[in-house]
Amino acid sequence: MSTAPLPAGPESSPGPHHVAIIMDGNGRWAKARGLPRVAGHRRGADAVRRVIRGAGELGIPVLTLFAFSTENWTRPADEVSDLMGLLRHYLRNELEELGRNGARLRVIGDRTRLAPDIVKDISDAEQRTRSNTRIDVNICINYGSRDEIVQATRSLARKAAAGEVVPEKIDENLFERELLTAGVPDPDLLIRTSGEQRISNFLLWQCAYAELVFVDTLWPDFGKEHLERAIAEFRRRERRYGGVGS
Ligand code: IPE
Ligand code: IPE
Ligand code: MG
Repeated sequence: MSTAPLPAGPESSPGPHHVAIIMDGNGRWAKARGLPRVAGHRRGADAVRRVIRGAGELGIPVLTLFAFSTENWTRPADEVSDLMGLLRHYLRNELEELGRNGARLRVIGDRTRLAPDIVKDISDAEQRTRSNTRIDVNICINYGSRDEIVQATRSLARKAAAGEVVPEKIDENLFERELLTAGVPDPDLLIRTSGEQRISNFLLWQCAYAELVFVDTLWPDFGKEHLERAIAEFRRRERRYGGVGS
């Protein structure tokens, strides 16, 4: 028998305890209105504000939002630059609103490719929201799950080569501690907007047992009521974790 720990089982409160969202559809929202893609991203930022507030009101303790993937650098330079501009604006102007919502911000992703001023804004925002306790908001920027897993493996290999880790002792818990999400519980609900039904390199390890909910709504139109509907769907699901269920 494997001695690996079982995935987290059903908890006393119905959950979800951690909702992760692939915020997709900004470009199509704009296109449908004859607007440039950046207009969709701007409205997407408004949806981020609404959903953070809504998640706090619904008592969700952890919310993780996929904002920019390691693959999104392949978009036209103008669009990447618009997205980075919006990110700057968000990090500098959203701190009061995050405070009002009791939101503690954490940015998850590889920061080495981000502009130095953005890296500084991220640290400042994390620092200035660190004592907020109502909801943990993780925003994934330059995040890619395969890259994260490779980096974690590299770090463990280095530690093993240095004699700090015995290879036989590497288990799921030890591995998890090397991931960018170390200390964050696994998502139990993963939502993707815009009708696409794929993971796109998001939290591959962490979503091993997440319930997946795909909604047709484009991200700029998404709000608290859509979140509530996804949660209701989550609560109708029977989670089995490989067992036979109840
Ligand atoms: C999501 O919307 C935002 C990011 C990935 C940065 P998209 O920009 O992917 O919108 P669509 O998929 O083209 O509609
Ligand atoms: C996933 O959306 C990434 C983010 C939401 C940040 P994409 O629009 O980049 O994904 P694909 O290209 O449809 O897989
Ligand atoms: Mg997309």
